Amino acid sequence: MDPLLLRAIRNEPIERPPVWMMRQAGRYLLEYQEVKAKHTFLEMCTTPELALEVTMQPMRIFDPDAAIVFADILLPLQALGMSVDFTPGPAVAAPLKNRSDIEALRYKDPASTLGYVLETIRGLKRELGASFPAPNGKAVLGFAGAPWTMACYMLDQGPFKHFQGTQVFAYQDSGAMDQLLKTVGELTGDYLEAQFQSGADAVQLFDTWAGNLSEEDYRRFALPPTIDILARMRKLGCPTILYVNGSSHLLRAMAEAGATCISVDWRTPLKAAQTAVGAGRVVQGNFDPTHLFGSREEVVKRTTAMLSSVERRSGYIANLGHGILQRTPRENVKAFIETIKKGWPNR
Ligand code: CP3
Repeated sequence: MDPLLLRAIRNEPIERPPVWMMRQAGRYLLEYQEVKAKHTFLEMCTTPELALEVTMQPMRIFDPDAAIVFADILLPLQALGMSVDFTPGPAVAAPLKNRSDIEALRYKDPASTLGYVLETIRGLKRELGASFPAPNGKAVLGFAGAPWTMACYMLDQGPFKHFQGTQVFAYQDSGAMDQLLKTVGELTGDYLEAQFQSGADAVQLFDTWAGNLSEEDYRRFALPPTIDILARMRKLGCPTILYVNGSSHLLRAMAEAGATCISVDWRTPLKAAQTAVGAGRVVQGNFDPTHLFGSREEVVKRTTAMLSSVERRSGYIANLGHGILQRTPRENVKAFIETIKKGWPNR
């Protein structure tokens, strides 16, 4: 039998909701901090044994239904010749300033420049198969940033905050913006295809900052390159998850993107998300990561309330509404996962 998460994403009948957490590997885990004490974040991403080890940590501790390969959405910028660093926070060495910088971008085949991510996926597939044989099999998730969010990190933000520089650039030179989104979209399509061929069972596209856009601008800029990537994956038979943070106003447009599953944050009621995307599409989400700070009883109560709010009990994947926060109490993460694994509350 296929892993639960894969059956859920295919909209097949499921005995309980599958669960995983965005950013489930990370600093809130002591085991992660121990590896981080000896290596930089980039070393951890680019050394498959280290990436595999930190990917497996939350699997062993919490036993969720999927593993997401340890990497970062900014790594593919290396395939475009841009150098990225993460100390202290994510930063691009020479951000793009104008049309000629965009026209000068050339990308190298991600299968060679990002081969370490593909190797981690192959290792993960082997390790998960050995540690969690059927019927308790786990899904392997690949991922990438969506073109709009990638553009936010690639473009010089000048005096602007909250990536508004990306919107300003789009208004001032929409042709150059289209070209940037197209180049990044092609790279991302190649990269996700290589992840699928290396063993990813499904892939998530993170469009973290697209929620800044009005529906009109989302349709004009962010959606077209997203549609192209998702169509490519659909042709290969790879299920896809599209995540946008702050997306209540974009659900109808997101439903047209062609993803198998739409991932929403805590601001959107799950019932409203299911209605907006329609019965044929899967919904993922949406526990508020700040609600993992509090008493264990509160976590159990709120997790149960989240499950109760799900109208259609097929085609649903439990998750947080955004990445897990630093210092999240581990016992509460356990309570969150265990509550979901107990299955649907009575109604
Ligand atoms: O989910 C997982 O466990 C897989 C790993 C993963 C990371 N980043 C590891 C990481 C994934 C899926 C991402 C995606 C990512 N990266 C996104 C989209 C998702 C989101 O959160 O909206 C974005 C916008 C980035 C860019 C990025 N990388 C930021 C903004 C940061 C700093 C924020 C922070 O938490 O420090 C990073 C660094 C980063 N990526 C860390 C991890 C574990 C922290 C690095 C460290 O250990 O110091």
